[in-house]
Amino acid sequence: MTPLNITEWQSLQRHYSDLKYASMREEFALDSGRFDRFTIRCSDLLLDYSKNRITKETIEKLIALANAVDMSGWIERMFSGEAINNTEGRAVLHTALRNRSNAPVMVNGKDVMPAVNAVLAQMKTFCNQVHNGDWLGFSGKKITDVVNVGIGGSDLGPAMICDAIEPYGIEGLSVHFVSNVDGTDLSTTLDKLNPETTLFVIASKTFTTQETLTNAESARSWFLKSASQQDVAKHFVAVSTNAEAVAAFGIDTDNMFEIWDWVGGRYSLWSAIGLPIALYAGMENFERLLDGAHEMDNHFRHQPLTENMPVIMGLLGVWYINFFGSQTQAIVPYDHSLARFPSHMQQLDMESNGKVTNRTGQRISYKTGPVIWGTPGTNGQHAYFQLIHQGTQLIPVDFVLPVNSHYPDVDHQSILLANGLAQSEALMKGKNAEEVRAELVKEGLEGEALEALLPHKVFPGNRPSNTLIFAKLTPEMLGKLVALYEHKVFVQGAIWNINSFDQWGVELGKQLAKAILPDLKEGADISTHDSSTTSLINLIKELRFN
Ligand code: F6P
Repeated sequence: MTPLNITEWQSLQRHYSDLKYASMREEFALDSGRFDRFTIRCSDLLLDYSKNRITKETIEKLIALANAVDMSGWIERMFSGEAINNTEGRAVLHTALRNRSNAPVMVNGKDVMPAVNAVLAQMKTFCNQVHNGDWLGFSGKKITDVVNVGIGGSDLGPAMICDAIEPYGIEGLSVHFVSNVDGTDLSTTLDKLNPETTLFVIASKTFTTQETLTNAESARSWFLKSASQQDVAKHFVAVSTNAEAVAAFGIDTDNMFEIWDWVGGRYSLWSAIGLPIALYAGMENFERLLDGAHEMDNHFRHQPLTENMPVIMGLLGVWYINFFGSQTQAIVPYDHSLARFPSHMQQLDMESNGKVTNRTGQRISYKTGPVIWGTPGTNGQHAYFQLIHQGTQLIPVDFVLPVNSHYPDVDHQSILLANGLAQSEALMKGKNAEEVRAELVKEGLEGEALEALLPHKVFPGNRPSNTLIFAKLTPEMLGKLVALYEHKVFVQGAIWNINSFDQWGVELGKQLAKAILPDLKEGADISTHDSSTTSLINLIKELRFN
């Protein structure tokens, strides 16, 4: 099935032709109720999507498209544990990890909730032991530093959350994240640490990932310079589905926290992959994160599509990607502690929806996932916003705005918020030639000088954005926000008829890296690859060994 053949898609295509020159500025001028019409709340989180190139009719047509692909059916299939990850034959149940209602969730006839709850209880016991000093390092000292060794979903989500909930961090305990196989990452982290008080969490769903295992082995060698083999048990724990490989690495499986194959890597921060979060900020705050995500899950599962935040955000993305031809989506949090939020969203979205094959294996001819990027405001304003305002591409922006800061300076926060709002207003309104002319005249410019400068100062406007606004970045709110984007990605996958839960596209590079590794050893030149790769390998050998 291709969405291009769906009547509702074709109807949207016609609607696009009618609407593509419509001006948001005019729509706002004509309709004082636009904000009320185009906002959705999920308790204390508000989505303002009024600054989009839409009318009431656009939303009706997008919802009709969602109905035509059986969006509600797909949502239900995911929540109820159907094996919707069809290429891996797996259910997709990150929602079960934060199922605070504890209602049974069945996979192959078995309720997964007892196992989920058992691991949460194991995490709680472990965190409490570390925090209250019942779990001590080999020389009898309290743990002061946790190093998470993992990559991709086993790094980005927990690292982002730990940054974002810094105000909730437990005193006396720091957390570090090592992901890159570039030895700089591990070395610069270990340089600051004392092996007597450092705990390593080796986080790998598969426990086969080259980067993570290499870093884990080097971390263990570093540790063993100061301690003995039997001390490893007090300083290395693992999170994985693969008990055998964990044991083979030398970690006691009593110190392993289980995850399951129905948790995708980029959806795993809610599982024991979140252990560094719980160690950093306490199990209570980790559970608050789960509570917030669960609230968004309930919203997604039960709200009508027209009032459903992930559905509307997903559909707006489809509107820009497939009809306006947008290729990227910026996510700009006006909160410095969310600096890593866009990177987590990047893996979430691009690894999920970067697909050119539909669910049934046919090559598809329409656009799927966009490039996701962004950095915190206001820094982005002084870097890449020029292109968003005056460049030739249409780049939808999500502004994420916490109203209150955890830090005391009220003046900073007002300036920050004013800037965030100013950007979305400027993108929508732009500045036309008459307005520029009036400004230049006021500045005393006239004649040729005025005419020469004028076109450079025009802002086309009509550039879309969403604003997500809330009182404060609490763990619950963070959980809600991440779950919102997870479900948005799911909505788009359902429209595009793709499986958002496999990631075969990362495999080829891994295979080739394994094949290239022996070729990089000292010795005679090789000639077995294409001329570019062969020459680069031989150059590397020359530069390393001659
Ligand atoms: O290579 C991609 C990937 O499989 C991601 O999906 C995953 O998050 C990451 O690698 C890490 O995998 P693992 O947790 O198995 O080490």
